[in-house]
Amino acid sequence: MLFLVVLLLSGATIISLIMFSVHYGISPMPSSRQAVKKILEHVPGDFQGKIIDLGSGFGHLARALAHHCPSAQVEGIEASPLPWFISFCYPHPSNLSFKKGDFLNYSLDSAQYLVCYLCPSAMVHLQVKFQQLQPGTVVISNTFALPSKKPIWVYHVTDLYYTPIYGYRY
Ligand SMILES: C[S@@+](CC[C@H](N)C(=O)[O-])C[C@H]1O[C@@H](n2cnc3c(N)ncnc32)[C@H](O)[C@@H]1O
Repeated sequence: MLFLVVLLLSGATIISLIMFSVHYGISPMPSSRQAVKKILEHVPGDFQGKIIDLGSGFGHLARALAHHCPSAQVEGIEASPLPWFISFCYPHPSNLSFKKGDFLNYSLDSAQYLVCYLCPSAMVHLQVKFQQLQPGTVVISNTFALPSKKPIWVYHVTDLYYTPIYGYRY
């Protein structure tokens, strides 16, 4: 009986993970070590405002940002229940919090830095949403560019895919 319950729970968890990945066009795969390093290089360690990780997955990048900027408030927003639950339960510093839901339903204009690792269709929606951002807000995107905004910098990290990281200023 216990075996059956565990089997059913595992099946439901895997199905939920797959369904959310298909719906949002991206799995909760974390940014590579090199990509995280490059992103951190572009956020000052003494920054004191708000940073949001759009689609925080298991919380890998958000945790790195919270440790890198101990005086900042870091927030991860994740729609997929399992990664959100794991990031929420995993020990994290007090300047980091996780919200569950679609980031398109949240106001982003209180953040001065937004980071993301998403997919092309999400970047199209975000480009529209970013019109509400406060002037000076910095957006850093792993792998995927905004369709029609010129980045202020682009770096390729030295991983297997020569992954681009894009920086934008609003
Ligand atoms: C590739 S992971 C990135 C995880 C983390 N940001 C990192 O870089 O290590 C992308 C995550 O974005 C989430 N996601 C995609 N679209 C979303 C949306 N509209 N609202 C909330 N989460 C979303 C996916 O569920 C997935 O877990």
